[in-house]
Amino acid sequence: MKTGIIAIIGAGKGGTAILEALLKMPSVITKHVCDVNPSAPGIILARQHGIQCHTRMAAICQDKEIDLIFEVTGRKEIFARILAQKQEKTRVIGSEDARIIFHLLDLQQEVSDRLEDDNLILERRVLERTTEQEKANKELEQKIIEYEKLNEKLQQINNEKTKYLMHATHQLKAPFAAIQSYTDLILEGYVGEIPKTTRAIVEKINKRCILLSDSIKDMLELANLKSLVKENIQMSGCPLDSIISSVVKHLAALTVSREIKISVPATLDDVFVQCNRNQILILLSNLLENAIYYSPNGATISIAFKAVPASLVKISVTDHGIGIDEKHLPRIFEEYFRANKAVAVNERGTGLGLAIAMEIAEIHGTKIEVESTLGKGSVFSFHLKTAQKTKIHNS
Ligand SMILES: Nc1ncnc2c1ncn2[C@@H]1O[C@H](COP(=O)(O)OP(=O)(O)O)[C@@H](O)[C@H]1O
Ligand SMILES: [Mg+2]
Repeated sequence: MKTGIIAIIGAGKGGTAILEALLKMPSVITKHVCDVNPSAPGIILARQHGIQCHTRMAAICQDKEIDLIFEVTGRKEIFARILAQKQEKTRVIGSEDARIIFHLLDLQQEVSDRLEDDNLILERRVLERTTEQEKANKELEQKIIEYEKLNEKLQQINNEKTKYLMHATHQLKAPFAAIQSYTDLILEGYVGEIPKTTRAIVEKINKRCILLSDSIKDMLELANLKSLVKENIQMSGCPLDSIISSVVKHLAALTVSREIKISVPATLDDVFVQCNRNQILILLSNLLENAIYYSPNGATISIAFKAVPASLVKISVTDHGIGIDEKHLPRIFEEYFRANKAVAVNERGTGLGLAIAMEIAEIHGTKIEVESTLGKGSVFSFHLKTAQKTKIHNS
């Protein structure tokens, strides 16, 4: 920006106001101030700022550097004299015009004062908001700490409950097994002939005992899984083929009795998965057991696996059985949930198999996914990490 060099003639009230305004302008240099009165307020102010002060205006009019002279004496003859004596390029503003400029500068000052005030108010508001926000944050942190403590307590209570449940369930296991074996003895005729009606009742008791034993086994299994500390569970690289063949073998009696064929992947030799073998055996058994129970006799069930990015294997169990109603899908992993259609085809269900399977999946950092169409069949799948030194062939 070009710098303007300015002189003021007249250092009374008007001249002082002009000088004050000019002093605030960065691109303006006030070089001279002149007044017949050497102690006029404008002269005193000018001195304080190192500006040349005069009582006669001759030096000012001769100065070639001056771009603009403010004549603020209000006397016409002085204005005329300046015009006559000034250098060619110097321009002159008379008292009238200076007053207008002064007024404008005044207005500008007022506006900037107001802006400054508004800014201050805004800053104060921002500060207040920040303080409020900080307070709210602190309260929230405090609440989170309280909730964490509460959660810890709840966890403790839950652990106690699980322990108690395990204990109570365990206590029930033996008496039910005894009742079941006594009913076996009666039904097999070891205590002599029994009337038909009694046999029917004893058969019912026997069936109930088997059901209860299954329930107790599943309840203990689930309670045990819930009470495990994740970090203490041993994981190792296990060959997938041995896991699958163990599960298939374990369920052989059931598949044979239902004439069900299980198709397993052919190329499993060198696939290793990182897992707790016993738990994955249970998980896969539960999925396969469901596929068998909820398929018609003579059906085919397939177990498949697929390598997926990020060192994972996706293992799936597909059946062409009764399928699951869409509205029941979100509930099948709930403890004790059984769809009506499932109850009708499988009397021996406990409603805990999938809850156990999901618990195991979560321990392994995965989830069980399900796709199913009512009347057509279901696919249950989950991911496991591949163990080191594993080569996977996609099937
Ligand atoms: N393969 C499947 N086909 C159809 N329904 C299934 C299948 N697997 C699970 N379900 C549904 O999910 C419910 C819960 O399964 P689960 O926890 O194993 O209990 P259960 O088999 O003892 O009933 C079953 O009762 C059934 O309604
Ligand atoms: Mg089941």
